[in-house]
Amino acid sequence: MAKKILITETVLRDAHQSLLATRMSTAEMEPILPQLDKIGFHSLECWGGATFDSCLRFLHEDPWDRLRLLRQKCPNTKLQMLFRGQNMLGYRHYADDVVEYFVQKSVANGIDIIRIFDALNDIRNLQTSIKAAIKEKAHVQAAISYTTGPVFTTEYYTKYAKQLEELGANSICIKDMAALLTPSATYELVKALKETVSIPVQLHTHATSGLASMCLLKGIEAGADIIDTAMSPLALGTSHAPTESMVAALQGTEFDTGLDLAQFAEIRAYFMDLRRDYIKRGLLSTDMLATDTKALIYQVPGGMLSNLASQLKEAGKLDKLDEVMQEVPRVRADAGYPPLVTPSSQIVGTQAVFNIITGERYKMCTNEFKALVRGQYGQTPIKIDPEFRKKIIGDEEPIECRPADLLDPELDKLRGEISEFIEQDEDVLSYAQFPQVSKKFFEERRNKKYGIDGEHLDMKEKVHPV
Ligand code: CO
Repeated sequence: MAKKILITETVLRDAHQSLLATRMSTAEMEPILPQLDKIGFHSLECWGGATFDSCLRFLHEDPWDRLRLLRQKCPNTKLQMLFRGQNMLGYRHYADDVVEYFVQKSVANGIDIIRIFDALNDIRNLQTSIKAAIKEKAHVQAAISYTTGPVFTTEYYTKYAKQLEELGANSICIKDMAALLTPSATYELVKALKETVSIPVQLHTHATSGLASMCLLKGIEAGADIIDTAMSPLALGTSHAPTESMVAALQGTEFDTGLDLAQFAEIRAYFMDLRRDYIKRGLLSTDMLATDTKALIYQVPGGMLSNLASQLKEAGKLDKLDEVMQEVPRVRADAGYPPLVTPSSQIVGTQAVFNIITGERYKMCTNEFKALVRGQYGQTPIKIDPEFRKKIIGDEEPIECRPADLLDPELDKLRGEISEFIEQDEDVLSYAQFPQVSKKFFEERRNKKYGIDGEHLDMKEKVHPV
């Protein structure tokens, strides 16, 4: 029986997050949005993940303005975001009232599908955001952070997927951020998940090790319903399988996407120009586009690979990259085998950098690494050795409960801290996640408004559809 495979296009989020440190600006997206909206994608992954931080920190843009513009220019396609459960889009746990408010505002400003995951696959960290997304009538996609290691059997994943379905997820995503899936592992996992849950299964993998399109095809054969791809100019390397290639591969088969290959020409040409421009500006390194099976050994996601390289480059220690890459899996094992995805990828990666640069393991520990070991991010897949924990946090009590249960409501307090700058309800959420960066952004915004840039107000009127 024929089954139409659905496609989530990631060029506006994960593709540039993986290849060029999330630097695609709203202005660069805007001209091509009407064309993207016409294709007939299942969804456009376009918000969340690192885009929020990047907007405020590097692009001097309001991420909420971006979302409203995307909504306005893409009225026919579902907009999808990536959300880190209790971490939202930041790097710590937030109180439930902040998480609920973030979900509410994301949906109110245009998000249809929220892909929610927890870096440790600790389901307690997803409860609040899943409940909030259901309340806002968004499509809840619960994602499983895929990784390999001692406990990560098929049973581990099917059990987790079943729990996510019971919690109210509308679909399940296998989130293979580190490109660890092989075609046969994909087949086995998708098949097992399809036998376990009755909701759609979406497949998200990266092309880092050169296996993405094979994995997608095997996953489709095993019953996957939706796949993540990226328009070809920003595909492959640490990004995803190319959209056009997957459409072509499925054309005329029982899994035909129903999309017309000829439709992509204009979009491809547009992003090809951008790609050339990114290379010229030094934002996109052609090294990122090369296939590298090291990921299968070191289990390092695309985004993390580029971050580690730039961290070492800044310290003038780029020659230590191989050593750091070998240290990453050792730190991961010490820390209870967390899947490597934001924020655990940064925490483990930075600690590995410290361990190598200082020349002595755990001589210096970041606060985040201590927090991970203490249990502040939730339960790690494997219990941390008490001896090791003692070495890192001394006699401090480890945290066993849902970490957010220890947090008092914080929305009112945050509002109070930033009241003089608030111009829209959403500002408090930007501030909650990135306090210093947001404050700086708000100051700049105010200066522009009352100072030199008189056009700014007009611009905002245009960008805010009612
Ligand atoms: Co990804």
